Amino acid sequence: MSNLSPIDTAKFVAAKRAVEFVEDGMRVGLGTGSTAAWMVRCLGERVREEGLRISGVPTSTRTAELARQVGIKVVSLDEARWLDLTIDGADEFDEDLNLIKGGGGALLQEKIVATASDMMIVIADPSKKVDALGGFPLPLEVIPFGWQTTKALIEETLSSMEVLGQTGTLRMNGDAPFITDEGNHIVDLHLQRISNPRQLSLVLNQIPGVVENGLFIDICDKVVIGHQDGKVEVMDINEGTLEEGLVEFAEAENLFADI
Ligand code: A5P
Repeated sequence: MSNLSPIDTAKFVAAKRAVEFVEDGMRVGLGTGSTAAWMVRCLGERVREEGLRISGVPTSTRTAELARQVGIKVVSLDEARWLDLTIDGADEFDEDLNLIKGGGGALLQEKIVATASDMMIVIADPSKKVDALGGFPLPLEVIPFGWQTTKALIEETLSSMEVLGQTGTLRMNGDAPFITDEGNHIVDLHLQRISNPRQLSLVLNQIPGVVENGLFIDICDKVVIGHQDGKVEVMDINEGTLEEGLVEFAEAENLFADI
């Protein structure tokens, strides 16, 4: 019997199913966040127990550290150049498998790595599925120089976009602004509902000072949704399919107690 919380069980189940897509010799993008951490652990287990030979490209210093700990060979994106597969979490996904990412502040590296991959698989618990993106605040990575001017420009731009909310807040880490792995700040946009994510993404990236936004449009190929009872669903946007399965999770907390 597993002692994992229902949410951790769901994340583990999604991660466990997703790493089945990894094959020997692959170059794999390793996402960031609590769900992606389960995936890195599950992948490490396959490396140790099956002798799976892979190179992992982490999307944050946190993930790089964990990957090394569990025995995954870590290489930079410049060494790998192009990846077979990236597996990452998401803050929201819609029925077209468009995403909001960046809740953990790693959206820039995550987007570069996912875009440089033949396939991107998102792992999620059922709470991440939404009818329309925007309930989760949309993260924007902005350079520190003139960030208040950049934020004002962003808010002015939002007034002509099809969104319900139009305010941004600077993400903090205690009393100081949050700093990304690239040395930038994050402005979180409270939009509530985004009617045209594709257009919004293009417009936001035109603003000087904005490095990247957390909308992932046409990047994700599959979403693996884990449930607390071990049920797993795999949505494939290219095939238009939805497959269901079951993942054994009883021993998960013993294998991954330190996550
Ligand atoms: C990290 O920057 C994010 O994009 C994460 O992938 C996202 O926040 C999901 O994180 P959880 O798996 O912790 O919910």
